[in-house]
Amino acid sequence: MLDSKGFDLWSESYDQSIADSKGYPFEGYYDVLAYVYNQLGSNISGSKILDIGFGTGTLTNRLYQEGAIIYGVDFSANMIKIAQEKMPNGRFVQADFSQGIPPELTGAKFNSIISTYAIHHLDHRAKVDFIKELKTLLAPGGQIIIADVAFRTISDFEECRLKNIDRWDNDEIYIVMEEIEDLLKKQGLNFAYHQISSCAGALVIK
Ligand SMILES: C[S@@+](CC[C@H](N)C(=O)[O-])C[C@H]1O[C@@H](n2cnc3c(N)ncnc32)[C@H](O)[C@@H]1O
Repeated sequence: MLDSKGFDLWSESYDQSIADSKGYPFEGYYDVLAYVYNQLGSNISGSKILDIGFGTGTLTNRLYQEGAIIYGVDFSANMIKIAQEKMPNGRFVQADFSQGIPPELTGAKFNSIISTYAIHHLDHRAKVDFIKELKTLLAPGGQIIIADVAFRTISDFEECRLKNIDRWDNDEIYIVMEEIEDLLKKQGLNFAYHQISSCAGALVIK
C-alpha cells in the first residue's frame, strides 16, 4: 500500500499512467468519474463539495470549473500542489483520512462528499466508521458518493482476483458489498450500490 511519499512520487505521472492502463485496477476509470459527476445532478454551481483523496483532481477540477466550492483532503503534498495549481481557490487540507476527519473540517457542511479510488486504504470496519463520520458533514439533502475498485459479491471479487493474480494488490481492501452490507445497515446508513465496470463500483449514501 502506498504511503504519502509513494503518492508524491506517482503524482507527476498519475494522469498518464491511468490513461495508459488497461484492465484491473482502473478498468472503467473514466466511466467511474462520469458516474459520480452525473450522480451530483445539475446543481453543481455554488454547491459545496468535499473530495476525499482527490489526487490530481481530474474530477474535482471539472466541478470547480463549473462553479462548485471545492474542499479536499489528501495526505500527499505533491498531489495537493498539482490540484492547487488547477484550482487556485480550492481549499485543500493535507491530512491522513485514516485518522478521521481533520479538525480543519469540524462543523463544516457539504452538499456532496465524493471519493474515488482512495478508500481501499481502510479496512471494512474503518470504511464504514469513516462513512458514518462523513455523514455528520452532510448538509440536509446531501449525499456521499464513494467509487472505487469494488464488487457486489465475494464470487465477483474472487473472479477478478484470479484473472489478475499476477498483479493483484493484496494490501488494498476493496469494497465487497456482500461483506460490508450488514456493517452499513448496523450503522443505520441508507445506501445504494452500482457496479460500473468489471472491477469498479459506487456506493451512494444519503
Ligand atoms: C489512487 S489516487 C486517486 C485520486 C483521485 N481521487 C482519482 O480518482 O484519480 C488515491 C489518492 O488518495 C490519497 N490517499 C490515499 N490514502 C490516503 C489517506 N490515508 N489519507 C489521505 N489521502 C490518502 C493519495 O494521496 C492519492 O492522492
